[in-house]
Amino acid sequence: MHPVFRSLRSRRWPAVLALGITSTTALAYVGGSPVAMTGAPGDASCAMCHTTHALNSGEGTLRFINAPYTYTPGQKHTFWVELEDVGLSRWGFQLTALDRSGHGLGSLSGGSEDSTQVIVAYGREYLDQRYLGSCGGEETGPVQWRVEWTAPPSGGGPVTFYVAGLTANNDAIAVGDYTYTGQWTADEGAAVPLADEEYLP
Ligand code: HEC
Repeated sequence: MHPVFRSLRSRRWPAVLALGITSTTALAYVGGSPVAMTGAPGDASCAMCHTTHALNSGEGTLRFINAPYTYTPGQKHTFWVELEDVGLSRWGFQLTALDRSGHGLGSLSGGSEDSTQVIVAYGREYLDQRYLGSCGGEETGPVQWRVEWTAPPSGGGPVTFYVAGLTANNDAIAVGDYTYTGQWTADEGAAVPLADEEYLP
């Protein structure tokens, strides 16, 4: 046997194999989609790979719940993204917060590290479902993901939240699923003055 092949078989191969398995698990799309798929300017959407149904052609609903009309600079704002679709039973989303020029604005986090994650790419933050947050088996929904957005200091201007939602049939492949996109814009409001107590010793 060729010496290189033998050494691979005896020692290195199991290590390579183990690595392969780990990264496949980590990369499973159901546990977090590739970034830049929100439908925002410059982004594609989940329909790039989930191609069975054209974008926004399904009967499902993608909603923002409690999203702010105006935001307070420097403050955290909490709202929810909700998806509902009759008969569908696995769910995913990706959201980003952009300023007028399409640059990331403020910072995002989710309600729970088990169900969502933030990935930073192209000067934007993307909030995404994780495997547990894909709510497998939850038929029809509605399912919701909590979004926490911390506004930048004053002067950021309006923020637009772009979101894509995927309503999937829980078959563990990218077939038969529906993609929806939506957006919500909040104007910058007045900063809330610090309470006097803040300055007391
Ligand atoms: C680059 C291609 C690609 C893009 C883009 C993509 N996906 Fe997927 N997705 C897949 C593949 C392949 C699978 C099946 C295997 C897996 O989960 O890794 C999948 C599976 C899923 C599943 C489980 C489907 C089921 O029926 O069980 C969900 C949920 C999901 N993706 C969410 C999303 C969301 C949300 C987006 C957009 C924000 C997205 N995906 C964008 C390739 C993609």
